Amino acid sequence: MRFSNLFSEVRVGSLTLKNRIIFPPISTNLASIKGEVTPEFVYHYARRAKGGAAIVTLENMCIQYPDARHGATQPRIDSDQFIPGLSRVAYEIHKYNSLAFMELTHPGLFSELEHSEGKIPVAPSDVDLRKDHLHPHVLTEDEINEIVEIFAQSALRAKKALFDGVEIEAAHALLVDQFLSPITNKRTDKFGGSLENRVRFARMIIERIKELCGQNFTVTARLGVIDFVDGGIDIAEGAKIAKAFEEIGYAAVHADVGFGNKEYRLEPMQYKEAWRTNFAEELKKQGVSIPVVAVGMIRSPEVAESIIANRKADLVALGRTLIADPDWPLKAELGKEKEIKKCIGCSECIKARHDEGTAIRCGVNPSVGKLDWSEFLPQAAAKKKVLVVGSGPAGLEAATTLKMRGHEVEVWEKSDRIGGALALAAVPPGKDKLRWLLDYYEYLLKKLDIKLVTNKEADAEEISAFNPDAVILAHGSKCLVPPIKGIDGGNVVTFRKVLRGDVKIEGKKVVVGGGGLVGCETALYLAERGNEVTILEMLPEIARDMETNSKSYLMRELKEKNVQYFTNTPVKEIKKGVVIAGSREFPVDYFVVAFGGISDHSLYDSIRGKYESYIVGDAVKTRKIIDAVREGFEVAKLI
Ligand SMILES: Cc1cc2nc3c(=O)[nH]c(=O)nc-3n(C[C@H](O)[C@H](O)[C@H](O)COP(=O)(O)OP(=O)(O)OC[C@H]3O[C@@H](n4cnc5c(N)ncnc54)[C@H](O)[C@@H]3O)c2cc1C
Ligand SMILES: Cc1cc2nc3c(=O)[nH]c(=O)nc-3n(C[C@H](O)[C@H](O)[C@H](O)COP(=O)(O)O)c2cc1C
Ligand code: SF4
Repeated sequence: MRFSNLFSEVRVGSLTLKNRIIFPPISTNLASIKGEVTPEFVYHYARRAKGGAAIVTLENMCIQYPDARHGATQPRIDSDQFIPGLSRVAYEIHKYNSLAFMELTHPGLFSELEHSEGKIPVAPSDVDLRKDHLHPHVLTEDEINEIVEIFAQSALRAKKALFDGVEIEAAHALLVDQFLSPITNKRTDKFGGSLENRVRFARMIIERIKELCGQNFTVTARLGVIDFVDGGIDIAEGAKIAKAFEEIGYAAVHADVGFGNKEYRLEPMQYKEAWRTNFAEELKKQGVSIPVVAVGMIRSPEVAESIIANRKADLVALGRTLIADPDWPLKAELGKEKEIKKCIGCSECIKARHDEGTAIRCGVNPSVGKLDWSEFLPQAAAKKKVLVVGSGPAGLEAATTLKMRGHEVEVWEKSDRIGGALALAAVPPGKDKLRWLLDYYEYLLKKLDIKLVTNKEADAEEISAFNPDAVILAHGSKCLVPPIKGIDGGNVVTFRKVLRGDVKIEGKKVVVGGGGLVGCETALYLAERGNEVTILEMLPEIARDMETNSKSYLMRELKEKNVQYFTNTPVKEIKKGVVIAGSREFPVDYFVVAFGGISDHSLYDSIRGKYESYIVGDAVKTRKIIDAVREGFEVAKLI
């Protein structure tokens, strides 16, 4: 077997895992407002088990309601009434021969007042670290004992619900981590100061859990082994803490992160694959002998296999990786790794969960967050001849889904290559992971033997000559070129030409018109080529609607690459050598048009009524990959 290390058994506590793959806690917003499991919630976790992960871990569970509530739809384990619902989840996970875990969480200092009915946050010490500057209530020893009991009673309920183990959230700057880290633990009693004292809270939790659940009940930890903040835990101390966790009975530790920018634990796509594995490696080098879990941006079976084979970690946590493709483990084990739809890091899941508070969704997996048995693609009732116009993500998702359902499919692409705007989106610095989606489609096109005709532009006559039963128009949008004086000048190019490499601009003064995502990323691309770049945006904000971490990354990049931007600055005129915008003039050698896209429905209007016709993706309205993939998939299921 190609990935024999990854698919070897391993012991964690009293359990034997069938492989080295853990689905870690990923909050979903799929539980009900009352904290009960819903059919979507059960399906979500069962689906990850069906895909072959050895452990499936339920997201951060609320152990104390409402004081420790984290999010409006956080699942609850603070009362026996939740045991029956949760046991249904464990049953479904076990059905697929996976082990069921749940993460027990207390946010401590960082509780959310809007969800905790305004309860004052609790913390080891009085520190001013909340955004609202609210000072926490400093926990007394009695109160610490109470919270220890709350953790342990929750673990007991997990056991009663037939979970195989629990994971203590001791990372991500939450309560257990707040005791571990000197950033929040300033105590001078037996809970503060020395490492032994800072670990005491975690020790009391596991000791009480073992008393209640038995010595054989498996308890693991997500551990903050490094803080990206001065005065916090460094990796050397993180290794010592991990060793202490081993001594006090934790069965495995995730080498995760503690305090610092959220970007380090919810990375935007620009981060290198598996960039955090060295933290796990360091723990092992320092002699931690319980299983160590590497976590963060592990996307390919080859990378996961090399982590295990080279003893950098004993297990891998695949979070977004299994959101994007729950069948990743099965496909890897069967040597079908090219069929894996890899997480591209588009951060739609984080945007949904953290920025919008809506049910989790995924940019490449349209079934995420839904109770969607149709993802197993029932065969079409009658085979049809279907034409797909356009080979961007919408067209390719539709074509592959249609073929898998048994239809005859042909794809026409106007240009000489596939990918559409997605191929361009992968060009700016750090966006190469978007190519993974194209690689996946390219492989499936061949495997499914789907006819792709490039350099073929669809129009009503051509379509009529082809005589299809059904047509899916996925022809994307066009570059919006507003009627600005001088926009037809010799010094004006579109972002498409720039990113396609049709025009090479180096060492020049460039003004990019439009400060959306496309404008900003084209600006970065140009700045990397030694150009002096300025973005002009008519609205009050650039890069609107981006997920928070991805946006802060982008803004930092713009600053580091000296890209200037001006908001509330509409472009009025482009002349040779100067752009007039707002009330200012900007020197320019090249003006790059990046004002967004415009969708043209004329082809759709000319064919509807003649065939079963659909229009999807940016062809409907310029949006994002998630919309293109979802609509391509949904429409292909209708035919
Ligand atoms: C620089 C850049 C960065 C981006 N970054 C992101 C990002 O980070 N995250 C995100 O979610 N989205 C991003 N996007 C947007 C995303 O790429 C698009 O929303 C997505 O590609 C739309 O897919 P689609 O299949 O609908 O259309 P397209 O990808 O535009 O594909 C349409 C295809 O149809 C072909 N075509 C057009 N007319 C015809 C015709 N008459 N006959 C045959 N073929 C035709 C075109 O040549 C093209 O190949 C980015 C876009 C760009 C340009
Ligand atoms: C949408 C989302 C929600 C998450 N929720 C949790 C959570 O409830 N508890 C937790 O410990 N980690 C949570 N994480 C972190 C993941 O478990 C994981 O550590 C992180 O995403 C990095 O791994 P990955 O690159 O494989 O996704 C979440 C991550 C995402 C993307
Ligand atoms: S939404 Fe994007 S980042 Fe999240 S799992 Fe899916 S592909 Fe990955």
